[in-house]
Amino acid sequence: MENAFQDRHAVGVEDFVLLDDYKSREAFSDNLKKRFQEDLIYTYIRDVLISVNPYKQLPIYDAGHMERYRGQNFYELPPHVFAIADTAYRAVVQEYRDECILISGESGSGKTEASKKILQYIAQTSKRAGNVEEVKEKLLACNPLFEAFGNATTIRNDNSSRFGKYMDIEVGVEGFPIGGHVLDYLLERTRVVHQASGERNFHIFYQILQAEPAMLLKLKLTGKWKDYVYLSQGIMKNSKTSHEEGLEKKWKEEFRAVLSALDAVNFTDEERNDLFSSVAAIMHLGNVQFADNGDTVKLQSNNEASVAASLVGCSADDLIQSLTHRGVHARQDKVLAHLNKEQAVTSRDSLAKAIYAKTFEWLVKRVNAALASRETSRSAVIGLLDIYGFEVFEHNGFEQYCINYCNEKLQQLFIELTLRSEQEEYVVENIPWEPVEYFDNQTICTLIEAKPYGLIPLLDDECLRPGKATDMTYLEKIRERHPNHPHLVIRRDQRQFMIRHYAGDVIYNVDGFLDKNGELLHRDQRELLVRCNNMILKNAFTDQEATSLKRSTSTATQFKQSLAQLMVILKNKDPLYIRCIRPNDVKAARVFSDSVVGHQVKYLGLMENLRVRRAGYAYRRSYEPFLRRYKSLSPTTWPTYKGSAREGVVVLMKHLAIPHDEYAMGKTKVFVRLPRTIFSIEDAFQKRKHELATKIIALWKGRRQRIIYEGIRQNIIMAQAQVRGFLATLEAERRRKAVKTIRDFIRGFIQRHAELSDVNRKFWIQTRINFLQRLARDPSLPKSVRDKSWPKPPLSMAETSELLRKVHLKNRVLKYCKNCSAERKAAMEEKIRAEDLFKGKKASYPSSVPQMFLAVRVSPDPLSGSRLLNFEQTIRQPTEKTVYVTDCAKFDRRGFKQRDRTIALTTKNLYFLEPYKDTFVKKKVYRLQDVERMTVSSNKDGVVIVSVLDSEQSGKPAMKEDWVFHVASVIEFVVKFVGLVGNSHVLEIIPNGKRSLTANGSNGTFVEFGVGQTEAILPVKKVLQVVAAG
Ligand SMILES: Nc1ncnc2c1ncn2[C@@H]1O[C@H](COP(=O)(O)OP(=O)(O)OP(=O)(O)O)[C@@H](O)[C@H]1O
Ligand SMILES: [Mg+2]
Repeated sequence: MENAFQDRHAVGVEDFVLLDDYKSREAFSDNLKKRFQEDLIYTYIRDVLISVNPYKQLPIYDAGHMERYRGQNFYELPPHVFAIADTAYRAVVQEYRDECILISGESGSGKTEASKKILQYIAQTSKRAGNVEEVKEKLLACNPLFEAFGNATTIRNDNSSRFGKYMDIEVGVEGFPIGGHVLDYLLERTRVVHQASGERNFHIFYQILQAEPAMLLKLKLTGKWKDYVYLSQGIMKNSKTSHEEGLEKKWKEEFRAVLSALDAVNFTDEERNDLFSSVAAIMHLGNVQFADNGDTVKLQSNNEASVAASLVGCSADDLIQSLTHRGVHARQDKVLAHLNKEQAVTSRDSLAKAIYAKTFEWLVKRVNAALASRETSRSAVIGLLDIYGFEVFEHNGFEQYCINYCNEKLQQLFIELTLRSEQEEYVVENIPWEPVEYFDNQTICTLIEAKPYGLIPLLDDECLRPGKATDMTYLEKIRERHPNHPHLVIRRDQRQFMIRHYAGDVIYNVDGFLDKNGELLHRDQRELLVRCNNMILKNAFTDQEATSLKRSTSTATQFKQSLAQLMVILKNKDPLYIRCIRPNDVKAARVFSDSVVGHQVKYLGLMENLRVRRAGYAYRRSYEPFLRRYKSLSPTTWPTYKGSAREGVVVLMKHLAIPHDEYAMGKTKVFVRLPRTIFSIEDAFQKRKHELATKIIALWKGRRQRIIYEGIRQNIIMAQAQVRGFLATLEAERRRKAVKTIRDFIRGFIQRHAELSDVNRKFWIQTRINFLQRLARDPSLPKSVRDKSWPKPPLSMAETSELLRKVHLKNRVLKYCKNCSAERKAAMEEKIRAEDLFKGKKASYPSSVPQMFLAVRVSPDPLSGSRLLNFEQTIRQPTEKTVYVTDCAKFDRRGFKQRDRTIALTTKNLYFLEPYKDTFVKKKVYRLQDVERMTVSSNKDGVVIVSVLDSEQSGKPAMKEDWVFHVASVIEFVVKFVGLVGNSHVLEIIPNGKRSLTANGSNGTFVEFGVGQTEAILPVKKVLQVVAAG
């Protein structure tokens, strides 16, 4: 099927501007017909979509088709309502331009269907995100809801919109609907109480009767529409047909849709109850019947009124009274006046109409509250105007008058935006132009609305005028004011007036004009409503409105004002047009009535539209925004163009190779003849935009990465710095410690010899350790007892060193002693004795120390041995032991003659021996105890004076005698001697000077000790001079 649709899209021309005979209405209709017969219901006049109602379902609205039209330009695909929707949607999303789609056409031409398709397309196309689905659901819920309450079956249309609807769909910056708003216009409230033949009341009345039994019970409804007067006036109450059954099924489904829609807009149970109670109350109210009661009127039965009262939550009596009486307010007083039957019926109907109108008004408000966008981000709107088309019935009343006035206004807008302004613009912009003639309906608008004598102001005047104003007096007024108006004809006799509308002549019956234009409800009923428990009615009027005696603004003026506002709204948006055409009067598929269509083509102004479009340019834009949008397409203009915007556009067009006749340069705008040209520019721009976006994204990504990288780098640097800082602190600390250690060390070192303190403690210890270690391994420590050397200790070890030195010495001594023989020991003792005797006393002592004492000190004469043997064997007594033998030179006491002798010391005696050959001649022997004294000098000489006491011999008394002799080793001799006698006092050390000698007890000679250059012993007379070396 889809292929078939595609294959056949070339039937006729898709765009009327391609029509050869574009000035012929027949050719125009013919093209429409050809296409219609092939189910091609859409055709363009450039960007205006002509839609012919197919009266049958065509498979061209599915998701696949929506997808096909998404993002495509007009000329690329067959004409379609989706193309219009997509154009508007893209303008809103891509350029943030407010758009409006004006759908116009006669009743039943398919306006509402088109608007639903557009809404579905936008809902389907927009991206899914966040709470969009909820918003879309709410937007889509508007259709079943408003259709139920605002649409009705008419002879023209089974689903005729009985109110005008303008809906804003708010599209957020991200391209999805974020909210919406609905404006309603002039609900046809008469329909609530009266329907023309073949017509029905608003759908909701029939739908509600298909509710669940519980709900019906609650609303006290029977479930049969024929039971309600207000629902069955236009339709014959004939027996049930299969058609009826189908309808009931449809209503049931529709009611289900209504209930879901109420859920979608979050109706509370209370709101839903109030809504349905109001509707049900009207139905019951319609069944209230009056009976004449003389001048007064009474209800045939109170039942229905009571039910109605209970449903809206007011007192039944109050309701009944408001239906049968009217309060007449005179100054402060109020008098109740009885109504007659006719007045009571009017009063009932007014109340019913008011309840319905207020309920509808509340519903619109309530839906708007649910649709209100909560986003604050930038948004643009797509406005959808679905308003009643031009109506011409057999009997046309006040409603048709208003509806047709509305269409006059819309035509004005259409003329304004497409015909007049466009043509004027060409002139202003200096674009060569041949004017196209068209009918400007401004004069009709002026006739209807202009103050003070327009038809509406006159109607208001008549309504307000004191005195007996009637519909006829109004007719008379307009006749007086506009006697020869070319568009107005008065037929007083038939209570009619005719307006020559732009779309054709319409005869209006003036009956009911004043009533319908005037106040809806009298004050009693207004007060009744605000006393209701039903919240919708309770809030229908403010207290002031309820009690005011002044008439509120008239219906026609209200409508006029809201239309004026609508015009302002529409003028501020870029318009897109859908012109709907009803192909026949019988709601039949495949029937194309030339006359019916021809008439609509005429009054929709499509021929003028085509002529202007054909001659003119499809697109225009001021140079600035045009260049701003498309400058990226030429390297000369991108990114900025230095010259004027106009020159920039010329450069751009040249660069894009747009042929000269395809566009024109106006004073301030560029005009592009064909849509396809601008579409190709736009396509190139979209492509370029993506390239740029890719570049920007890449740059941005790069930059973001760089920022991230920089961030990381900075973090690393910071971390490094911190680590470095930390390490540096550690290092500094380490160094500080090292410096302290070194400084302490140096200080300790410097002060290592000072008193022990904290500063040098370590050093002290270390020095001591070092010293001890060194000492332990020192090979140069003294090994002999006599070696006095010792390593110099540090101060800290002075005491210890000394102790150690002593220990070491003791140790050596011990060792020495251990290894020492008895002889050696005796020799050492002698040495010690020598020290005791001579140290410091005799100059030759020091030189004697190193030489060991001998037991025999005789000349190495070969006979010495024999002599000594001789002595041992023959001279000394066996009881005694030889201790010492030494050669000596003995000096006589007279003349001091020197003689060689040998002295022998035994344990008992001192022998003076004279060597003779190999023997000794004993010269003298003295007992050791007889030696009184032994005198030596303090000099270095070896002279000894031995003073002996000669023992008594043969009675001779003992005699003192001094012996003078020289021994080689005087100290050795003396020591041996002292050792034997065991008395050191025997030794006398004398200084330089003379010592007299005793010989046999007499004195006379001397020995004189002295010191000279050379050693010498010289006798000088009686003095033996002993000179020791100095
Ligand atoms: N595109 C379409 N495809 C199929 N049927 C359509 C289409 N357009 C309209 N119709 C049929 O025509 C009927 C009338 O259309 P619609 O209600 O949109 O007319 P309208 O212009 O809104 O009339 P009114 O002014 O009375 O509200 C629809 O109920 C539907 O049956
Ligand atoms: Mg409609």
